[in-house]
Order: sequence, then structure tokens, then C-alpha cells
Amino acid sequence: MFIVFEGIDGTGKTTQVNLLARALSGRGLPVLVTREPGGTAAAEAIRRLLLDPAGESLEPLTEVLLYAAARAQHVARKIRPALAAGRVVLCDRFADATLAYQGFGRGLEIGALAGLNALAAGGLVPALTFLLDMPPAEALARLKRPADRMEREGIEFYRQVRRGYLELAAREPGRYRVIDARPAAGTVHGLVLAAVEEMLHETVCRFSRA
Ligand SMILES: Nc1ncnc2c1ncn2[C@@H]1O[C@H](COP(=O)(O)OP(=O)(O)OP(=O)(O)O)[C@@H](O)[C@H]1O
Ligand SMILES: [Mg+2]
Repeated sequence: MFIVFEGIDGTGKTTQVNLLARALSGRGLPVLVTREPGGTAAAEAIRRLLLDPAGESLEPLTEVLLYAAARAQHVARKIRPALAAGRVVLCDRFADATLAYQGFGRGLEIGALAGLNALAAGGLVPALTFLLDMPPAEALARLKRPADRMEREGIEFYRQVRRGYLELAAREPGRYRVIDARPAAGTVHGLVLAAVEEMLHETVCRFSRA
């Protein structure tokens, strides 16, 4: 089972991935936590290139190809093997981040990006995607660390990215769960866990009927 957390910076993705991992591990499920860009040594090296605020400024196309390269490595070397071994994979961002940031945010053509994503991910689609949603000003105010290269974008950029995510979620209501990210982390976690339990329950029922 492949579960992804999306949302603009500061909405609590990493917090929620960790809380869910703890809850599922506590129930005896084998869990793998990973993130994008990154997840393997080569993909983490690409991450550093992408997010280093002191680095050379990147052309939008260069940026999107680097994300795709990191994703191809991550899916083939880490995510697919873990899924094949029966683990629940929790991923902090995935392919829809490319559509939201580079497509809706930077204005690259969405259809072309979707094609690139399908190629990089080898057709892998999450079973469930959580969109942690809240206004950008509040989300960015939560970040206490220094801004990375993406975060130096203005607030209007993040408004577009948020709009993009909401549109993606509206297009695929079966896969997406949009969650208000403003309440306390424990409250958000309760909603996340309920949705995962519902999906696990459906999966078990489907298997027992088969
Ligand atoms: N529900 C919440 N309410 C208030 N603060 C929160 C909540 N969830 C997380 N935080 C805090 O907000 C900050 C950002 O959270 P977190 O790192 O989980 O977000 P993120 O979406 O992973 O951000 P990024 O995209 O930058 O990686 C952290 O300091 C975290 O402790
Ligand atoms: Mg994070």
C-alpha cells in the first residue's frame, strides 16, 4: 500500500508521515517512510542540488527534469521493492508535487508534466493521497528553519500551488483526501488515521470476498 502526503511547505506533511508511521508500526504493520525529492543516495544528491539556496539558479525545465530523475531512481530502487515485500510505504510528497509546483506554480504545461511523471514513476500511482490544506501565509509562518530555494518564492506562487493541489484533488476524489491542516497535529492525525483504517478495512474485505 502506497500512501502519499502532499501540500505546500509547512502544512505538516513530515509531522503527519511520522505520526502515521508510528501508529501503523504499533499495529504490527511493516512501514517504510521515505520522501521526495530523495529516498536513495543518488536522489538525495539531486535533492541537495534542487533545494540549496546558494546554488546556481535553475531553469524551470532543468528543475522539472531533476525532480523526474530523482523520482525514477526512488521508485525503482526503493518504493517498488518495499511494496513488493509487502510494506506500507509512506512518502512525503510524490509526483503530484511536480504538477502543483512546476505546473500550476511555474506555468509549465500540465499535460507534458503528467507524461513525464508517468514515465518517471513507471505508472505507479498512490492508493491514497492526503492533501494537507491551509492558507500559505499560516503554513509558511510555521517554518522555523531558514528558507530553502523553493521557499524564497513569493506568497502568490504558493497561492497558485495551493490552488493547483485543490484542483488535482477535485479531479481524483477517489484517491485524494483533503484535510484541513490548521488544527493541532494530533487532531489532523486522527483524521488521517481514520481514512487509512477505512482503506485497510476495505482492502481486507475485498481479499476475504475473493
Ligand atoms: N497541526 C500543526 N499545528 C501547528 N504546528 C504544526 C502542526 N503540524 C506541524 N506543525 C509544526 O509546523 C512546522 C512544519 O511542520 P512540518 O515540518 O511537518 O511541515 P512540512 O509540510 O513537512 O514542511 P516542509 O514542506 O517544509 O517539509 C514544524 O515546526 C511542526 O512542528
Ligand atoms: Mg517536510
